[in-house]
Amino acid sequence: MNPKIIRDPTKMQQWALAERRAGRTLGLVPTMGYLHRGHLSLMDTLRPRVDRLVVSIFVNPIQFGAGEDLDRYPRDWDGDLAACRNAGVDVVFAPEPAAVYPEGFQTTVRVSRLTAGLCGAQRPGHFDGVTTVVAKLFHLTLPHRACFGEKDYQQLAVVRRMVADLAFPVEIVSAPTIREDDGLAMSSRNAYLSPVEREAATSLSRGLFAARKQFHDGERRAAVLAETVRQTIRDHAGAVCTLEYLTVCDAHTLEEIVTIDGDAVIALAAKIGTTRLIDNVILATAAEATATTP
Ligand code: PAF
Repeated sequence: MNPKIIRDPTKMQQWALAERRAGRTLGLVPTMGYLHRGHLSLMDTLRPRVDRLVVSIFVNPIQFGAGEDLDRYPRDWDGDLAACRNAGVDVVFAPEPAAVYPEGFQTTVRVSRLTAGLCGAQRPGHFDGVTTVVAKLFHLTLPHRACFGEKDYQQLAVVRRMVADLAFPVEIVSAPTIREDDGLAMSSRNAYLSPVEREAATSLSRGLFAARKQFHDGERRAAVLAETVRQTIRDHAGAVCTLEYLTVCDAHTLEEIVTIDGDAVIALAAKIGTTRLIDNVILATAAEATATTP
């Protein structure tokens, strides 16, 4: 069945309130569209756990910095709608920017320490844009549960923190990164890559997987694991790839660590040509921990 399309935020909230009054549980998968198998896995994760599934499609202008790809962010409305139909989505919420941020809008939701490093350091204001829009989407769609991908590990941690700190009555569910057959993490931005860049981009997951194997073989020194990632990328992608950051950090605080003795993540951002990609691997029991710990 075709999902119901709602564009007006007030109508979205009225629909959600009516469903809640009728005793139904609601789920939200927030997206910026151009849906791929990563998004579908978020929908599949939530679908059996709620009575009504909402997918928001909104390219959020306030999480893009100056000179970033807001204007060319890929869009595919018909493809997205077909994907939502196949995934059994009940409502697609697709507001216009002016409806989300009307004249006079001046509120920012900000998580401080968790946004200081990693992507937060490279993209000032990005996470303020994410938490502000996610908070608003939660108020408009009133979900009992919302699903976010581990691919955006810092985003997941930041949203969990916001939900805990501000006592949103929303359960945050996470889902593992979905990858292409050659290991490249699914991302809407993969569409920007030329064939040469697409091949070079596989160096990111190769490097991360090599370090994860080293970790499983007993290596606990963060610097050694980081060097393995760096070396693999250098060998495979050479000049096509510039690392923006590479960190081995605590899975909960995201603070850089020297020796791994608990849950940890190796996370990176890199420019492949002009395309910025991120990826990570979760070490030890962090995957379980992020699923349960705010
Ligand atoms: O991960 C994304 O696509 C976006 O950051 C989100 C969560 C939809 C907020 O705009």
